[in-house]
Amino acid sequence: MRAPLSEYAKKAANRVLTRQAEARPWLTPLSRAVQAILSSRHSPRAVAAALGVSKATAQETLVLDYGNPQSLKIIEAQRKQLAAVLVEPVQSRCPENQPEAFLQQLRDITRSAGTALIFDEMVTGFRIHPGGAQAHFGIQADLATYSKIAGGGLPLSVIAGRSRWMDRIDGGIWQFGDDSAPQVQTTFFAGTFCKHPLSLATAKAMLQHLKNQGPALQMELNQKTVALVQRLNDWMSSHQIPIQFTQFGSFFAIALSKSRASPEALNLLSYHLLNRGIHLRGGDKGGFLSTAHSDADIEAIFVAFTQGAKALHQANYF
Ligand SMILES: Cc1ncc(COP(=O)(O)O)c(C=O)c1O
Repeated sequence: MRAPLSEYAKKAANRVLTRQAEARPWLTPLSRAVQAILSSRHSPRAVAAALGVSKATAQETLVLDYGNPQSLKIIEAQRKQLAAVLVEPVQSRCPENQPEAFLQQLRDITRSAGTALIFDEMVTGFRIHPGGAQAHFGIQADLATYSKIAGGGLPLSVIAGRSRWMDRIDGGIWQFGDDSAPQVQTTFFAGTFCKHPLSLATAKAMLQHLKNQGPALQMELNQKTVALVQRLNDWMSSHQIPIQFTQFGSFFAIALSKSRASPEALNLLSYHLLNRGIHLRGGDKGGFLSTAHSDADIEAIFVAFTQGAKALHQANYF
């Protein structure tokens, strides 16, 4: 679920219609009717975001506002047509939105409709808790995706979930060396590097490490992130800089909804960080603490963010 692009189209159309209505008052009833059609057409629809994405793909997808109760109503109304609902439980682009009640209701609706609920746990999986966002919120999805952390840095994607859906990948539970065999008809699923032995050996070692450490690993790291965010927020407030940070597990970022910062200012901030030895991907507003970060590293992150923000504040960017 994303902020729909169609929202932009709707607003632009509304603006044009409003201007027309001001110039020609007799158009008002007509413009209201057109606005109603535009609203009903555009709100819950997806549009192809780039060349090469077919209209058919977009037409088969609903893109809804995340955390918005209206989206639940639309899902409820279309439950018979929906094969799956895919969410990033806490979005890496908007980590301050942690809508537990919304996710609970989404789980109830999809369960009763027999629609698969998919959690994209690429970022949240193993980070917030060994059981990911599912364990954190106490909500079990039907399918979940993982990659970066489980891969320990090697290329790996993982799809995990209930046998009702996963059996279509491997034919159900069976093993080599005995009479068992795939019982369920499978879908097409293949790739040159699927089940690559090096990635799988790394994932096994990584998962074993997480298992040996237990939830204390995440708890300690998450606590360090809470402390960093608290310090950053206190510092920004005491210097009257309108920037506030948020965190989810060991992921921390500038909370755009609680800050006043233009994209240009945020872009410039990443150069200030780079100049102080901290590299973020262009456009990113935060990063991840890991167990490899020492207290000195965390201090360097604090100094880079605060001094970068101070320089931009002095130059009237914040
Ligand atoms: C939330 C989320 N989902 C999916 C992906 C895609 O993952 P991959 O590049 O492993 O296919 C990413 C990549 O960063 C992501 O952040």
